[in-house]
Amino acid sequence: MHKLSPIGFFDSGYGGLTVLKEVQQLMPQYDYLYLGDNARAPYGTKSVETVYEYTWECVKTLFDKGCDLVVLACNTASAKALRKIQQFNLVNYPGKRVLGVIRPSAEIVGDFSQSNKIVVLGTEGTISSNTYIEEFSFLSPQTQVFQYACPQWVPLIESRDYENEKGKALIRKDIDNILSLYDDIDVMLLGCTHYPILQRLIEEYVPSTIQVISQGEIVAGSLASYLNRHTWMRDKLSEGKTSLYLTTGDPKEFEDMASKLLEIEVNVESIKI
Ligand code: DGL
Repeated sequence: MHKLSPIGFFDSGYGGLTVLKEVQQLMPQYDYLYLGDNARAPYGTKSVETVYEYTWECVKTLFDKGCDLVVLACNTASAKALRKIQQFNLVNYPGKRVLGVIRPSAEIVGDFSQSNKIVVLGTEGTISSNTYIEEFSFLSPQTQVFQYACPQWVPLIESRDYENEKGKALIRKDIDNILSLYDDIDVMLLGCTHYPILQRLIEEYVPSTIQVISQGEIVAGSLASYLNRHTWMRDKLSEGKTSLYLTTGDPKEFEDMASKLLEIEVNVESIKI
């Protein structure tokens, strides 16, 4: 029997599901293993050292469970831990790879803008790292990038308080602030994988001249292209069409949220890290 070698997906909580959903749609043939560190979310307000330490623990867990390829479906981890993991940790794991979500976004999002002015929304950690500014200046130098941190949004999503009026008012306040600060932007990039859960709400609050862009489809396309270019990795992946979800939090709550987001029944197990 073929050994199970799923593609690993990691996020601090539910956010990475918005990326996994698009990847599953584009490449349904593979096996997937998702790990949400819900018990320790949010990561966005934590120090570089802590985000790195937690992210690496989770990546190692996915490696131990058979993943050769892990996607950090989390901007905060991609900003604060990915480079160190790729440069130092992977030396001891030949044949394993870890990818992030910031570079694939910076590679193409500039093309969506006519005014060459975009705003990136993210966690405090992602925004203060300036990773988006660096990546855009290198990959899309014509794009002027404004940044705005929304530290309340991930807690609102993890607690599901975005569904009530108080939560919606907090989101609207940030959007109104962004619109008053940045003139002439025509793209709003949701640079946190949790935020697409709010996409419909955000679209209600922004004028139709601004495109609200989520990363899911972008990352899915970029992953497909990575696998086409790295056939040695593609050949290692098992193709059993299974998906398993692990959470460090409450599996019942995870199951509710994940089935709602993915619109399918999901198989969730609790894990201690
Ligand atoms: N989904 C994570 C991201 O993309 C959220 C980080 C957090 O837990 O604050 O940044």
